[in-house]
Amino acid sequence: QGLHRLMVNAGKLYFGTAIETNNFNDRPYRAIADNPDEFGMYVPENSQKWEAIQPRQGVFSFDAADSVARLAKTNGQLFRCHTLTWHSQLPPFVQNGTWTRATLTAVLTAHITSVVTHYKSLCYAWDVVNEALAENGTLRASVFSQILGPSFLPLSFSVAGAADPSAKLYYNDFNLETTPAKAAGALRIVQQIQAAAAPIHGIGFQAHFRVGQTPNRTALVTLQNRFVALGLETSFTELDVAHLTLPANATAVARQATDYVGVVQACLDVPRCVGIVVWQFTDKYSWIPNTFPGLGDACLFDRDFKPKPAYTAVASVL
Ligand code: XIL
Repeated sequence: QGLHRLMVNAGKLYFGTAIETNNFNDRPYRAIADNPDEFGMYVPENSQKWEAIQPRQGVFSFDAADSVARLAKTNGQLFRCHTLTWHSQLPPFVQNGTWTRATLTAVLTAHITSVVTHYKSLCYAWDVVNEALAENGTLRASVFSQILGPSFLPLSFSVAGAADPSAKLYYNDFNLETTPAKAAGALRIVQQIQAAAAPIHGIGFQAHFRVGQTPNRTALVTLQNRFVALGLETSFTELDVAHLTLPANATAVARQATDYVGVVQACLDVPRCVGIVVWQFTDKYSWIPNTFPGLGDACLFDRDFKPKPAYTAVASVL
C-alpha cells in the first residue's frame, strides 16, 4: 500500500521524508522516494537552511530547494519547509557579524520575508524557529538570543505569517520527547508567542530517537496533548531511531521496529497530529553516522533499499 497511503487512510495528512538534491541521481532511491503512496511529503534536508539559501547578505540561492519543491509538485506530494531562525548552519556573515538589535532585526526580517515569500503558498508548513532551547529549558545561547533576547521568537513568527498567511507556522525542536525541562521550555515559548499575538500553529517533535530509549506511545500522546491544549497541531518532523551498536543484533532490530511503531501509534492516537516525516528513509543517506560516530542504521530501509522489520511493523499498524 505505501506508508503515505496508509496514513491518509488512517485520517492523517502525510507520511513524508527528508530528501536533498544530491540524492536525485540515485535511481533506486528515487524509485521509492517519488512514489507518492510511499512518501506524500518532501522536506529539503539542507537546502532551505540560511547558509544554503542566503550565503552572503542579500545573495539568495534558491535553486536546490526549488528543485525539491518542483519534484514534490511533479510527484503530487506536499512540501514542508525547513527552517528560518536557527543557530546552526548559519553563513559567516550572520554568525560573525557585529550586530545591534536594530541591524540584526533588519537582517532576520529580510531573510524570513524573502525566503517565505519565495515559497509562498507552496509550503504546507514552515519550521519558523528551530532548536531555540537548551536542554534545561532556557533559551540556548545564539546570535539571536544574545542580541535580541526572547523577542526573536514572536518576531520570527509574525514576519513569517505576514509573508505567507497560508503556511502553518511551527516551533521545532529535539529532545522535547525525553527531557521534561525542555518540553516545559517549549510550552513557555508557545505561550510567549501567543501572548505577543504572533501566529503559531504547530509543534514539531524532531523525534531523533535511539533504539531502546524511545519514549513509548503513552508518553508521546501525553506530551502532544500538552501542546494541543494550547491550540496547536503536532507532527513528528524528523523521525529516526538509531542503533547504538552496529551491526545490530536480532533483538535490537526487533526493538527498533517496536520503537518506530510506538511513535506512529502516538500520532494516530492524537487527532491533531497531522503526520510524520522520516529524516531520510534509507541508511545509505542517514545523517546519524556522520554526526554521532558509532551510531547508525536508523532508517526504515537498509542501504540496499530493502525494507527493514521496522518498515513492515509500521505498515502493519497503519
Ligand atoms: C542535519 C542534516 O540531516 C545533515 O545533512 C546536516 O549536515 C546537518 O543537519 N535537526 C534538524 C535538521 O533540524 O536540520 C538536522 O539536519 C538534523 C537535526
